[in-house]
Amino acid sequence: MTGLDHEALSAIVTELTAAISTVDDLAGLDEVVARATAKDGPLGSLKRSLGGIADLESRKSAGRAINDALAQVTAAADARRVTLAAAARTEQLEADRLDLTEVVIEDVRVPVVRGHEHLVSQTRASLEEVFVAMGFTVTEGPEVETDWYNFEALNLPPGHPARDMYDTMYLEIGEPETVLMRTHTSPMQIHLLEAAVEADALPVHAAMAGRCYRLDTPDARHLPVFHQIEGLVIDRGITFADLAGVIETFTSAYFGPDIHSRLRPAYFPFTEPSAEFEITCTICRGDGCRTCSRTGWIELGGCGMVDPAVFEAVGIDPTEWSGFAFGFGIDRCAQMRHQIPDMRLLIENDLRFNRQF
Ligand code: PHE
Repeated sequence: MTGLDHEALSAIVTELTAAISTVDDLAGLDEVVARATAKDGPLGSLKRSLGGIADLESRKSAGRAINDALAQVTAAADARRVTLAAAARTEQLEADRLDLTEVVIEDVRVPVVRGHEHLVSQTRASLEEVFVAMGFTVTEGPEVETDWYNFEALNLPPGHPARDMYDTMYLEIGEPETVLMRTHTSPMQIHLLEAAVEADALPVHAAMAGRCYRLDTPDARHLPVFHQIEGLVIDRGITFADLAGVIETFTSAYFGPDIHSRLRPAYFPFTEPSAEFEITCTICRGDGCRTCSRTGWIELGGCGMVDPAVFEAVGIDPTEWSGFAFGFGIDRCAQMRHQIPDMRLLIENDLRFNRQF
């Protein structure tokens, strides 16, 4: 033999590249490649025949031609592999796609389990309903507040020691410690009163619910993100007895006729006098147990007569108007009403828990 059969070589390359470009799955491609590189494949046998070429230079150049042919075939195979892999992936994605417009056919053998409102949302709605029944309007407001609304207008100027009651989450907006996540719903008192003054719309009887934030470590009785409902009544001739009456009415309306409320002296800068309000322990019904530290009472929130400093901050004449405010935890209400041992259950979204309500 004097040299390489170039025609045979190019016929082999043409055949292999044609096979590569028509193969339509990765397994098929692997087969073609295996055939191209096999020792006893078409290129392999050409290679073996090189031994028959006597002239060294011709033998070398024939070897190079075969290697080039092999490289050409492998390059074609690699390119095809990229295309086929992309197509396979697209097909997989299509197959995995959820059709959210799908119509669920009710089938008695496979009962359809629908979701429902979370217990906290249900609790908020029932609390709002109780206050609507008592003649309150229901509103809500921003979770991001300025220092003015959350503290200063509530008679908590910078440096006031009572600010320590609130472990505040500040936002890095503007001057340091000027913008924050509200630590209670009381800033809504200020928003509401400002609007009422502006619109000359006093009196107000309002309830405002929503999310609040404090840098607390979650435990059985605390969540760093929790919910409060705030009440505010401003009218002529409002007294502390009205406050006590509203709290008691709300308590038995929401928790049941055998659950009562009591007020104990406390301190809040934005109310004077101030009180903590407690309800009959729903676990022991007042007999005393571990949950209520054997007192028979559970603290639910704070309240009091609106402090003249708050009236002054919003420009209301305290000789003409008086009122009261209260605020308490919605999550705590849910916990007490349903005897939930650990508040963290409210945020874990374990369906075994959520489905019970
Ligand atoms: N905002 C107070 C708190 O979260 C509760 C409160 C509301 C007290 C209204 C008095 C009047 O601690």
